[in-house]
Amino acid sequence: MRIEELKTPAFLIDLPKLKANVQMMKARAQKNNVNLRPHVKTHKTAEIAKMQTAPEAPGITVSTLAEARFYQKSGFKDISYAFPITANKLSEAAELSASLNVFNILLDQPQTLSAVEEYGREHGIKFKVFLKVDCGYHRAGVDPSKPASVQLARQLAASDYIDFRGILTHAGHSYHCSNPAEIVEVARQERDVMAQFAEQLQNGGIACDTVSVGSTPTAMHAPDWQGVTEIRPGNYVFFDKFQADIGSCRPEQVAATVLTTVAAHYPAHNQMLIDAGALALSKDLGADHLGDEIVFGAVLNHPRLRLFSICQEHGLITSNDPIAFEKHPVGSLLQIIPNHSCLTAALFPKYHVVEEDQVVDEWTPMRGW
Ligand SMILES: Cc1ncc(COP(=O)(O)O)c(C=O)c1O
Repeated sequence: MRIEELKTPAFLIDLPKLKANVQMMKARAQKNNVNLRPHVKTHKTAEIAKMQTAPEAPGITVSTLAEARFYQKSGFKDISYAFPITANKLSEAAELSASLNVFNILLDQPQTLSAVEEYGREHGIKFKVFLKVDCGYHRAGVDPSKPASVQLARQLAASDYIDFRGILTHAGHSYHCSNPAEIVEVARQERDVMAQFAEQLQNGGIACDTVSVGSTPTAMHAPDWQGVTEIRPGNYVFFDKFQADIGSCRPEQVAATVLTTVAAHYPAHNQMLIDAGALALSKDLGADHLGDEIVFGAVLNHPRLRLFSICQEHGLITSNDPIAFEKHPVGSLLQIIPNHSCLTAALFPKYHVVEEDQVVDEWTPMRGW
């Protein structure tokens, strides 16, 4: 089938670019001697996760227990659930622990530690647990400079109901950067905060086997990973406009686009209507800290066109120049590079895999919680 024959809006994955991105990150991890445990929430498919892993590095990272169940059924045996566990999810987590070779959970609250221990004591199970550390993003995790954080690590390591796996962080503040030089600084901070905290724990007699970091911008620009054992980037399989804008990737590396149809021309307003709105692209504002005009995605090969407004199913394109409407007849197709590919992908029940103008495969991602 040719791309022109698809119903729109449709989520397209450029297979050669996807493969190149997957290989690039594998090579970075190998060269720097760190384990790659990719975050698969970006795509939520078995197909891409299989490409990202290898017999010597079979582990993946997920963001929901439903994802963990989906990947367990798809044959994955080593999974980290990288959202702080809550007491009401422990029975599901216990089932996953029993059916997988490795199922890691994480926490950063003393109350959660008590809940995990209580559950373990009652049900005779030992959870594999990471301590979540805040390396500067301030979204989740303990402050490694506080004695209470060392104390929590000590309690985790000493517990009869916990197998303490190590420390884990996500440098999400790398997304506040404006260029590669700034990303390098965040990558250094992520590495140093984690390496120093791990050393402090080891010196205090607390074994800390795994030191896990991850975000696509820092994984792309880290000068090295001294003191780190594992990286967990996810977005790099597709990249997006945000990553290109902050210099995390090159624009031509972006592997995901939304195919859309021009539905109407409004020359009086210098506008075109497309059938990709917020339910096809998400309302992510992209790298709005860069101070550029807000757009909801970039129009591939037409940099002067601006997707400036979206409603649920409507998208409106304008331009600072008069639009050459004759180049975009009603019924013609455009491809939109999403601001944030993870959120955009999550809106589609299936993905179309393409090579040049041919649809070569169709993948079904998992959905739900
Ligand atoms: C805990 C955790 N690890 C890893 C990642 C992957 O980072 P990225 O989306 O930048 O690839 C995320 C993304 O939000 C995350 O929350």
